[in-house]
Amino acid sequence: MSNESFDDAPSDGRRSFLTGTTCALFTAGGAGLMTPYVKSWSPSARAMAAGAPISIDLTKISEGEMVVEEWRGRPIYVLKRSREMLESFESLDEQLRNPSSEDDQQPVYAKNDNRSIKPEFLVVEGLCTHLGCTPKFRPNKNEEGFTGFFCPCHGSKFDFAGRVYKGVPAPTNLKVPPHHYVDDNTLIVGAEKEETA
Ligand code: FES
Repeated sequence: MSNESFDDAPSDGRRSFLTGTTCALFTAGGAGLMTPYVKSWSPSARAMAAGAPISIDLTKISEGEMVVEEWRGRPIYVLKRSREMLESFESLDEQLRNPSSEDDQQPVYAKNDNRSIKPEFLVVEGLCTHLGCTPKFRPNKNEEGFTGFFCPCHGSKFDFAGRVYKGVPAPTNLKVPPHHYVDDNTLIVGAEKEETA
């Protein structure tokens, strides 16, 4: 699990990969993350390649902090939103292209004001909906007062619910992957609840 601190400086190899290749498109299967050739894959490697669900320990995420995991070769952002982050949503609606999430970018259980199952946790794919760069987490206001996710490739902006701003290249909100909670501290990404029952 990679934690995104408030200054979102990379602190390990995988996060360096994710943020260091900001303008590289992610390819299905995450081929770029795999070793060149493995003669005999272990079952877990095969399962990973097939896109098996991943489990995330939520106890390791502090309020206001984001972690980056990988599922099906895609970066998955899990943000534990603060009250301030949640309270910012309503005032932003006028600036957003699709504030009510009318597009097809989330499962039905995440089509709500917070785009999430639990208000405090945002779970989205960390791929810009313009050309697939990895947006940067911006928890602190910049000189223009912006917070949220910023894609440096062509300047797209998203709020803390992954909702895209008007007037940027990205056409839609960030995608919410299938996910559910096993208990208060365990998130599963890659499967709906009924699929693993
Ligand atoms: Fe993000 Fe173009 S890829 S703005």
